[in-house]
Amino acid sequence: MAKAPKILILNGPNLNMLGKRQPDVYGRETLSDVEQSCRSRGQSMGLDVDCRQSNSEGQLIDWIHEARDSHDGIIINPGAYTHTSIAIMDALLAAELPLIEVHLSNIHRRETFRHQSYVAKVADAVLAGLGSQGYLFALDALARRLNAQQET
Ligand code: DQA
Repeated sequence: MAKAPKILILNGPNLNMLGKRQPDVYGRETLSDVEQSCRSRGQSMGLDVDCRQSNSEGQLIDWIHEARDSHDGIIINPGAYTHTSIAIMDALLAAELPLIEVHLSNIHRRETFRHQSYVAKVADAVLAGLGSQGYLFALDALARRLNAQQET
């Protein structure tokens, strides 16, 4: 049997505060609730889901570099680095993996400084405003894509 494709789910700064942080904007689920749902959705679709969170830009970049050789796709919510980090964008380009950007909130309906995303320039798709469901839709999309690749 083929090995389960490995998906890296990366969450950036302040996402460890989910559940406590602005619940009206980001919801009441904790990061650990969200990660648990992602792992079980992944399992049901034959994906091996690896969830990590860091408040540090450098740590996120190191994990993205490692993923190039160890993972088959990336889902990232870069938090506020979305709007500022050319370094994360460059790391994602270097990883050369299927990539989906997720935001809990609809960044386009919020302050103007959140409308710009460097990551969107290199992502295959962007999901924003669906709350934690966005991660699950992103997993569905990657599973379809990776399964289609395996069949060819
Ligand atoms: C966020 C949106 C960003 O603008 C913000 O800085 C975050 C969370 C979201 O998931 O909606 O930290 O990425």
